[in-house]
Amino acid sequence: MRVRHLLRRFLGSLVPVGPGAADDAWARAHFLSGEEALWDQLGRADRRHAVGVARRVERALGHEATRPVIAAALLHDVGKLDARLGTYGRVVATLSAAAAGRHLADAWAERRGLTRRVGLYLKHPELGADRLALAGSDPLTVAWAREHHLPEEAWSVPSHLGRALRAADDD
Ligand SMILES: [Fe+2]
Repeated sequence: MRVRHLLRRFLGSLVPVGPGAADDAWARAHFLSGEEALWDQLGRADRRHAVGVARRVERALGHEATRPVIAAALLHDVGKLDARLGTYGRVVATLSAAAAGRHLADAWAERRGLTRRVGLYLKHPELGADRLALAGSDPLTVAWAREHHLPEEAWSVPSHLGRALRAADDD
């Protein structure tokens, strides 16, 4: 895991400020109705972060930043809702994955309490993809949620789109 990225997200989440009204309206203009219902469930710091990612994707891709691509930038981490972890729990989850390996996520998700939540957090790509599919999202939006932690060779999302989405999330 990219420690600088994690640290920046952690520090940002300590100040739970949401996106500004204009940014929130811009995000909503890219959603299908089912996606907007998911957006409403995200925490303020997550929504603010997501708008930053999506704005960078739009700048990087120009006319290729289609509605499904922007929706992917905004909602690719929506599976984190299932873990219901706060800032500290997310740090625990990330460090657990680094120490013990993501492959334990399935087993952890079958357990109880914090162990279960850590397991669910590590499974957020699949859980988010399922949520988006149920919400009626475009296949590209669903695919990026599922693939955004995978190596590039494993993407079904076109490489240049995936690279722009990933680069925007690292900034
Ligand atoms: Fe993620």
